[in-house]
Amino acid sequence: MACRLHLMVLIFSCVYLICVSSQQETRFVYNGFNQADLFIDGISKILPGGLLQLTNTTELEKGHAFFKQPFDFGPSSSLSFYTHFVCSLGPPKLGADGGHGIAFVVSPSMNLSYAFPSQYLGVFNSTTNGASSSHLLAIELDTVENVELHDLDKPHVGIDVNNPISVESSLPFYFSNALRKNISLNLMSGEPIQVWVDYDGSLLNVTLAPLEILKPNRPLISRAINLSEVFQDKMYVGFAASTGGWTSNQYILGWSFSGSKELLQTLDLSKLPQVPLPKKEKKKLPLLVVGLVVSLVIPVLMVLGGVYWYNRNKFAEVREPWEKEYGPHRFSYKSLYKATNGFGNDCRIGKGGFGEVYKGILPVGRHIAVKRQSHDVEQGMKQFVAEVVTMGNLQHRNLVPLLGYCRRKGELLLVSEYMPNGSLDQYLFHDQNPSPSWFQRISIFKDIASALSYLHTGAKQVVLHRDIKASNVMLDSEFNGRLGDFGMAKFHDHGANLSATAAVGTIGYMAPELITMGTSTKTDVYAFGAFLLEVTCGRRPVEPELPAVKQYLVKWVFECWKQGSLLETRDPRLRGEFSFEEVEMVLKLGLLCTNAMPESRPGMGQVVQYLNRDLPLPDFSPSAPGIGAFMPVSMEASSAIGVPSLRNSSISLFVTHTILDGHGR
Ligand SMILES: *[C@@H]1O[C@H](CO)[C@@H](O)[C@H](O)[C@H]1NC(C)=O
Ligand SMILES: *[C@@H]1O[C@H](CO)[C@@H](O)[C@H](O)[C@H]1NC(C)=O
Ligand SMILES: *[C@@H]1O[C@H](CO)[C@@H](O)[C@H](O)[C@H]1NC(C)=O
Ligand SMILES: *[C@@H]1O[C@H](CO)[C@@H](O)[C@H](O)[C@H]1NC(C)=O
Ligand SMILES: *[C@@H]1O[C@H](CO)[C@@H](O)[C@H](O)[C@H]1NC(C)=O
Ligand SMILES: *[C@@H]1O[C@H](CO)[C@@H](O)[C@H](O)[C@H]1NC(C)=O
Repeated sequence: MACRLHLMVLIFSCVYLICVSSQQETRFVYNGFNQADLFIDGISKILPGGLLQLTNTTELEKGHAFFKQPFDFGPSSSLSFYTHFVCSLGPPKLGADGGHGIAFVVSPSMNLSYAFPSQYLGVFNSTTNGASSSHLLAIELDTVENVELHDLDKPHVGIDVNNPISVESSLPFYFSNALRKNISLNLMSGEPIQVWVDYDGSLLNVTLAPLEILKPNRPLISRAINLSEVFQDKMYVGFAASTGGWTSNQYILGWSFSGSKELLQTLDLSKLPQVPLPKKEKKKLPLLVVGLVVSLVIPVLMVLGGVYWYNRNKFAEVREPWEKEYGPHRFSYKSLYKATNGFGNDCRIGKGGFGEVYKGILPVGRHIAVKRQSHDVEQGMKQFVAEVVTMGNLQHRNLVPLLGYCRRKGELLLVSEYMPNGSLDQYLFHDQNPSPSWFQRISIFKDIASALSYLHTGAKQVVLHRDIKASNVMLDSEFNGRLGDFGMAKFHDHGANLSATAAVGTIGYMAPELITMGTSTKTDVYAFGAFLLEVTCGRRPVEPELPAVKQYLVKWVFECWKQGSLLETRDPRLRGEFSFEEVEMVLKLGLLCTNAMPESRPGMGQVVQYLNRDLPLPDFSPSAPGIGAFMPVSMEASSAIGVPSLRNSSISLFVTHTILDGHGR
């Protein structure tokens, strides 16, 4: 009896165990798939966070995940099943189209390797379409319309039996229990979506809802289906998903399944893994705005930058540390640019091989002349600027005040006071201007002699002018003669040879010893002599067009003197009254200063005295040595040492000086 009892207990226990185990077999729940033992193929995989990724965004791929144990839908069992899962379908970018969808599948085999991706969702292929032998049930969340499959034209939910053409389908929405209305759902938001599929053996319900919503009271689809012919005795449950030309990251977050409604376990939504959401529209909008702003701002910035850069370049200067001490003499290019109306043509008062001269007005109302000259070399610049500044410090009423300078790349600008009446040669040689009277000429001689005397003896250092001629004699508003400042002759000998011995000047004014001995106060005296003759005779020292006897002024005046017709050489345009005696004295002084022998020339101090009649001219005859011996410095020789050739003298506003450190005195 005890034995039978024991046997009964044993049998009961076995039956109980079998029952429990079979109950365990007919249901499962996965809140994330970390520990899940699923059959997985294709590109499906379980991600480290427990997320079941059915597909990523690789095109034309498919993947499956099946619960490994089959369920018994045999004649002795019920055909019913209940499932609840959470999925997420996210296109690469929100708002973009994604594809192709996922399906909950009940299949006689886990091996769906024959199935096609794209619209076949990895469940069907083109030959199994509609074949009852496939024994397939799929609940599809299809995100791509397919005309071929008579799909709805938007993402939709459908029931497929052996066929990708759904027996029933609907646009996705859910019935809100609270609001008692249907609310549409976006299948491709990437947000988790809950799906319930309930089949009681005759009616198949499909229900959708967002994650935070309780199961709606009304299903999305409710369809009477007899699946007894579709289901085989053993059926596997799982998921299929595919991509095509459209792709999505398609995930299952959690899944509960049971053969009976009562045994279906609830998903613990709080334990579901997180889904990487596609880039949000909120982020896209600022991006769009940023893009718009950037696309607007960049051109503006570029224009502003361009203007800035243009201005920077336009007003760029060269400044070196050694120039600091010359600060007061340094002009900014911008100020000169403004003063001369942007170096406009209307401000240009001279133009020549040396550069251009502009007149301008500084903001303080001072009238200036700006000489722009290009140069190639920086060599010698420091010494040159030092000289410019020294010139600027010279104070004499018969010098054109040099105000300062400005340096730019390859360019030097010299600023001096503007002389409203221009240069003397314009009155001597241009018929449209009135010819100066003798009184004007003699006072200009006195002015220039006084200025030269100051340069030679009056200033702290000996300063050589080196280029005295009518075109470098400027006339101020009262018609006073003023020796113009810097001629760039020296500078234009490429700044290389700035020594006092550099031979520069203008042919006809250059002393014969200049080539061999270089400049000295005596070469300035020679040039002054030539200038005296030039202004008195109203012709240039060298005029190649004239007959040979008249070509060289010094020689011609000398010859005329010898022949007793000295006064005949005077300027025929000379207006008004003049004293023969004074003209004769000046012509003789001119010859005295142009003596071929430097030691026989007077000093500038003496010249001033002669002109002022404080001293009588020394008595000398045409036979005196060196007188009238004009030896023109040949063009070849002069150009060989970089002497500027005869040039249109009216452009030279400034005259070259050279500072001799003591020995020239
Ligand atoms: C998708 O997954 C497959 C298989 O893991 C991999 O080879 C492929 O690079 C992945 N594609 C993307 C876009 O991540
Ligand atoms: C799936 O079935 C195909 C034949 O249709 C076969 O070649 C393949 O080996 C099967 N795969 C598995 C994992 O059983
Ligand atoms: C479709 O799948 C079946 C197996 O169910 C297979 O026999 C058939 O060859 C497949 N058709 C194509 C076109 O791959
Ligand atoms: C909601 O959709 C169902 C179809 O599933 C329809 O029968 C019902 O009338 C709709 N309800 C409302 C409030 O629109
Ligand atoms: C399907 O939904 C209907 C209501 O639309 C309900 O009466 C029926 O019980 C549901 N069936 C299952 C299996 O949930
Ligand atoms: C389903 O169809 C089978 C035969 O195909 C039939 O025996 C069964 O009664 C049907 N079930 C229902 C609920 O109609």
